[in-house]
Amino acid sequence: MANNTNLGAAKAAKNDEFYTQYADIQKEVNAYLEYNPDTFRDKTVLLPCDDPEWSNFTRFFAQNFERLGLKRLISTSFAVESKKYKDYEPTLFETESPLFDIDKTRIKGKIFELTRDTNQNGRIDIDDLEWHYLDGDGDFRSPEVCALRDQSDIIVTNPPFSLFREFLGWILQANKGFLILGNFNAVHYKEVFPLIQHNAIWIGNKAFGGGMDMIMPKGTFDPKMVKKYYIDERGNIIQNIMGVIWFTNIEHGRRHQFLEMMTMNDNIRFGKNKTLKERGYVRYDNYDAIDVPAIECIPSDYNGIMGVPDAFLGRYCPEQFEIIGLGAGDLAKEIGITKNYRGRSDLAFTDPATGESSCPYSRILIRKKNEKG
Ligand SMILES: C[S@@+](CC[C@H](N)C(=O)[O-])C[C@H]1O[C@@H](n2cnc3c(N)ncnc32)[C@H](O)[C@@H]1O
Repeated sequence: MANNTNLGAAKAAKNDEFYTQYADIQKEVNAYLEYNPDTFRDKTVLLPCDDPEWSNFTRFFAQNFERLGLKRLISTSFAVESKKYKDYEPTLFETESPLFDIDKTRIKGKIFELTRDTNQNGRIDIDDLEWHYLDGDGDFRSPEVCALRDQSDIIVTNPPFSLFREFLGWILQANKGFLILGNFNAVHYKEVFPLIQHNAIWIGNKAFGGGMDMIMPKGTFDPKMVKKYYIDERGNIIQNIMGVIWFTNIEHGRRHQFLEMMTMNDNIRFGKNKTLKERGYVRYDNYDAIDVPAIECIPSDYNGIMGVPDAFLGRYCPEQFEIIGLGAGDLAKEIGITKNYRGRSDLAFTDPATGESSCPYSRILIRKKNEKG
């Protein structure tokens, strides 16, 4: 029983407790700066759901405070007793501070702030971070963290994935810029898909596939259950977590790059996709659209609706395509996908070779916007 409880806690923690590497934050932020060097200039950036000063989000934004031109950096951490993962020792940064309080350290959140050159060495950087305990535990929903959100312009973090919907809603209800990590599955949520469809939010710059290498807290990691991991130079366990992508409403260059396309005929004759070569562009039985089995098979000469794999969102350019809807579930019903051979409103087609009906793996329905596309 004790083991089960530990395992359960580790599993729950695993969904919410994994940490982002510095290089991944740096790469992503650089893509926004390339598009607009002033993306963060004179802005207040809030890093909620973070960790104490060792968080790579705090480190990155503090180290780059001047380069980014920030006005104010605020980072808040969640109290260890409120976390699913409780294996935590305060760092020397905290214990050696005159503010250290043994009673507060486990039950209070912390706030770290950077606005000025406190040590007067001529630059504003991580050594100028000022901190104190919050009144509460640092829950992003608490009135004090909500007040910090309201004072900020841009929110950047890797939030607890179990609260992703709520977290995104929390940002959008205050109408803030954001750059956050999430699981790819979130694009299917009924609260998220319409936002992507109507270009209110989009996928970040990082490539879609391949997941992300994340830092795993030791207590949540069972080497027997994990095929691939490595230990980095700081002794952290790094594991690849599938499906981790960035969500944002900040402009970056990749989303304005047009996808190169070939004609339907050329795709069938010269393309590499086996499925397309075997069955061509089949039409769905329960919706007026064709099935496109891979992004590289999206044809240049078809002006109707096409069902494409989810990975399309990583290449979506709103000047080139419009998103019509989702190919399965309640949102599919909304765009008129009728019941298929299984009695569900998921896209389905009849394979021309075998005469058998089947449903393609998850599809998003899109249409080319104009002749240029
Ligand atoms: C996926 S981790 C990411 C941590 C860190 N920002 C990083 O990537 O380096 C999410 C963090 O949110 C914390 N958390 C969970 N529930 C929270 C809540 N309601 N409010 C604030 N933080 C929360 C977790 O304890 C965890 O530290």
